[in-house]
Amino acid sequence: MTYRIAPSILSANFARLGEEVDNVLKSGADIVHFDVMDNHYVPNLTIGPLVCEALRKHGVTAPIDVHLMVKPVDRIVPDFARAGATYITFHPEASEHIDRSIALIREAGCKPGLVFNPATPLDVLEWTLDKIDMVLLMSVNPGFGGQKFIPHVLDKARQVRRMIDARKLDVSLEIDGGVGPANIREVAQAGVDTFVAGSAVFGAGKDGDPQRYNSIIAALRAELAKA
Ligand code: DX5
Ligand code: ZN
Repeated sequence: MTYRIAPSILSANFARLGEEVDNVLKSGADIVHFDVMDNHYVPNLTIGPLVCEALRKHGVTAPIDVHLMVKPVDRIVPDFARAGATYITFHPEASEHIDRSIALIREAGCKPGLVFNPATPLDVLEWTLDKIDMVLLMSVNPGFGGQKFIPHVLDKARQVRRMIDARKLDVSLEIDGGVGPANIREVAQAGVDTFVAGSAVFGAGKDGDPQRYNSIIAALRAELAKA
């Protein structure tokens, strides 16, 4: 299994975002997790396509994993595609027509994914799993960084891993919320391959040190090596 670490820039210093993203990628992160919140689907407001485009113009070439916590979904999809998104994931309950939203993301040239909140059932995967590139399981309720990992999501991860493997699909299984060196190994053992970590990564090290993220990324990788 190839493991990928996806720092969530929600916990980065927004006043120095380009530099923060450069530093975390230089330290060995694989993907940029980009949390989009609209103060409607979730009670918080963050960043949109302009910031995604700014990161591309800044020179970021790593995949950008856009996690839409917005309702409605479809209106904003083409904007993120133009802004350079790689993945676009959305919450099924935020879209009136899930299959259409998936197709829209694909037609726009991005990789679609579905996101499940801790209490959201997985039933829509029955008819969508072969059309998406990523399943994102929320291990906290969406809206804020720095929350505590909800352990029952490990059972959900095992269930999704079984579905992906049974159908022999090339779909990534990502987890988001409360992940750090203390639990990443257990999460990997449940079948997850892509790990979002916000506060654990961006809270590490000393402000102003460009290598401040080296040791946290190395610590996460060391735990993954034991999985
Ligand atoms: C929460 C976001 C997460 C968040 C994770 O709604 O989707 O990506 O940044 O933050 P941590 O890793 O601090 O739980
Ligand atoms: Zn997220």
